[in-house]
Parts: sequence; structure tokens; C-alpha cells
Amino acid sequence: MNHDESRGLYDRALSVLAGGVNSSVRATKPYPFFVERGDGAHVIDADGNRYIDYVMGYGPLLYGHDAPEPVQAAVQKHAAAGPMYGAPTEIEVEHAEFVARHVPSVEMIRFVNSGTEATVSAVRLARAATGRDKIVVMQGGYHGAQETTLVEGGPDGVSPSSPGIPSSFAEHTIPVPFNDPETAHEVFEEHGEDIAAVLTEPILGNTAIIHPVDGYLQTLRDLTDEHGALLIFDEVITGFRVGGLQCAQGKFGITPDLTTFGKIIGGGFPVGAIGGRADLIEQFTPGGDVFQSGTFSGHPVTMAAGHEYLKYAAENDVYDHVNRLGEKLRRGITDILEDQAPEYTVVGTDSMFKTVFTRHGAPDRADACNDGCTQHEACPNYDYCPKTGADVAKAETDRWERVFWQEMKDQGVFLSANQFEGQFVSYAHTDEDIEETLEAYKEAL
Ligand SMILES: Cc1ncc(COP(=O)(O)O)c(C=O)c1O
Repeated sequence: MNHDESRGLYDRALSVLAGGVNSSVRATKPYPFFVERGDGAHVIDADGNRYIDYVMGYGPLLYGHDAPEPVQAAVQKHAAAGPMYGAPTEIEVEHAEFVARHVPSVEMIRFVNSGTEATVSAVRLARAATGRDKIVVMQGGYHGAQETTLVEGGPDGVSPSSPGIPSSFAEHTIPVPFNDPETAHEVFEEHGEDIAAVLTEPILGNTAIIHPVDGYLQTLRDLTDEHGALLIFDEVITGFRVGGLQCAQGKFGITPDLTTFGKIIGGGFPVGAIGGRADLIEQFTPGGDVFQSGTFSGHPVTMAAGHEYLKYAAENDVYDHVNRLGEKLRRGITDILEDQAPEYTVVGTDSMFKTVFTRHGAPDRADACNDGCTQHEACPNYDYCPKTGADVAKAETDRWERVFWQEMKDQGVFLSANQFEGQFVSYAHTDEDIEETLEAYKEAL
């Protein structure tokens, strides 16, 4: 593959963009390929190389790179009509009504412009509603580039994970290991009266794809209820991806007080949202006094794209298709691993998948799960499947990024650029794409 154009563009970018990119994960080594255009499930780079794309914009592109016709028509109509006004529009109401009809926790919603903005506002709302400061988060969880959650450490000591965040901010955050009910109980015993909320992704989607063990989300629901704290699900990734239109909370049968959204809810345009119980959401300004505002919030083009995206999914076989191909891919990779790298683990559910380069696997994997680890206790591999962020960090992360990812790219398969970020199948992917991808796995593993 020739990459001359991309190399030249990166050279130029390094002079004017920090690190040559506008979001750090894009700075793949030794330099990223620059995308010229998308085509269904594929992207074509500046040198004309074509890749099967499983990054899918890091999650938003449920339909791949060619949105269904009604989405394209609605985007063009709203872009031509305005595109935005600083006054409310009907499409915001329609989109809010649709989400409230389908997502169990959502009675009311506030649209914003990014997942980060959504989690910032949800945390502010939780603190205001409870009159408490502390927020419990999961080690290995990700909630965007925001001060409350960019932390490292554990219940016994926490510090900011980025320069520029005062230590005194981090003191209000308590990171705990995901899938560890005992630690959650201990933290509530010690700090219960000061905890405003537990903020968690229902499935950790930025640390490989870690499924909750049986009962863990219910434990968080019970603890928050008992102690007068709120449960916030960050469904920026899982929203309208896992569990279809009811999202992961519907799939798991656990209803949080607040839910944050992003990615798919904007149909490929910048978006975020905070949904939840009406008595909470109403506390945002101007109805209440918890300050929340944004020039671009509820942008008509985004609202139209997001609304048509979800309506199309409600009326077509979208989730059947992406989930079927997701399962086919996970099963296919599991078979390949059995021969070539039995210690590695396939994770994922619905249309999400990832291979974790774990260092150990069960000696006898007969009868092990074969369509992605969803933490079944009866599975022979249960004790070896990653359950926490720390488990994934112990994997062969350098091999994943520097050897495997590069080889997949050279074979025309674009995966997320490190061991940690999730990967996504879209409605544009076909059985042939999956088969071609499995052949590439065979070569690269
Ligand atoms: C679970 C989760 N929350 C929040 C965010 C932040 O969203 P954004 O990048 O739109 O600010 C992300 C981004 O990947 C995410 O995965």
C-alpha cells in the first residue's frame, strides 16, 4: 500500500494541529491515514487505499458511510432551510418524543453537542439534586474529556489523570473496579451520605468491551437507592447500539435515574443528551436553576439526522442485520483463536466486538462461550475473561497496537487503533465483508 499522500498531509498537520490531529486516538503510528471519503462499510484514504471499516467514527455510524435516503433528505432539507436559529424547532420535540417513547429511563431529555457535555451536565445535575459532591466511577470507564472523571487511583487514593486538573477536583471522585460488588458496598458504607451518583457505562466500551457480571448493575441500582444517590448510565456508546431502541438499560432490565447519550442519537453529527426522570431533568435551567445551555444544542440538522436514523431502525431490519453479523464475526474469530492463539479472548455483544490479547486462557476450552464473552459463570473460560479495566491493561497491548493492528490495516481492515476502544459492525457491512475480515484475522494473528 502506498501512503505518500497521507504522510505528506500528516507532515503538514503537525505544523498547525496539536499532534497533527483533533482527537488523540486518531494519531495512529507511525502516522494516520487521512480519509478522503466513505463508501458503505468502507473508507478510502487519500492514496486511494480501501479498507473495511469497523471504527465507524468510534460508534455513531450505525448505517456505515451511506446514510439511508430519508436521513440524507432530512439533513439536506434542514441544512438548506437554516441551518440553525437560536430558537426552538419542531424537530427537537419530535426527536425527544421518540427517545422518551423507547428508552425506559427517559421521561424528559436535554440535547447537547457531545458525550462529554452530556456527562458534565449529568454530574452537575446529580450534585445539585442530591446536595452531595462525590461521584463513584469505574476504573477503565470513560466519560469524555471532563474534570470529574479524568482521574486515576482507587477508593483509597485518587489523583487527576491529566495535568491541568486541580487535585482538589479529583478528591470528589471515587474510582472502583467494575464488576466488584464488594468494593461498591464498602465505598457506600464509608461514604454513602456524601455520594451524589454512581456514573457507569452499562458495558465498559472503551476498555475492550467488558460485560457486567450477573447482578452487578442490580447491585449498583440497590446501593444508590438505599443511600439516596442517583444511578447514571453513560450510554454514549451503548445507546441505540446494544439492546436496540431500548438501549443497554432495556436489555439488562435496570433503569437508571439519568442516562447520557451521544454518538448514534445524532445520526453522524455532533451530539450529546441527558435523559431521565422528569423531576430531575426539569431542574436544568430555565425550568430549574441547574445551569445548562449551549448555542448549538438541539441543532436542527443533528436532530433531523438522529431522528431519521432511529425511525429507520424502528421500521427496518437494522438491529437484526448488525447483530447477526456481529455474532458471525465473533464466532469466526473465536474459531480462529482456538487454532492460533487460544489464550486470547473475544468480547462483545450485539454489533460490538473486540479481541483481547489476554495472556492466559482456560486449559480446556471445550464448551466455552463462542460468540463473545458475556461473563457466563458456567463458561470454562470465566475466570480468564477480563472483568475490570486492570485485566485489559494487563493484556499484550503493545502487540495489539504495533503488530496486529498494523497487519490488519495492511490487509485492508480498519480496526480501532489500540487494545482498548470498541469496534462496530454497521448496516452497510455484508457477509462477504465478514468473510474477508476473518481471512485477514487468520493472517494477522
Ligand atoms: C461512554 C462514553 N462517554 C462519553 C464519551 C465522550 O463523548 P464525546 O467524545 O462525544 O465527547 C465517550 C466517547 O467516546 C464515550 O465512549
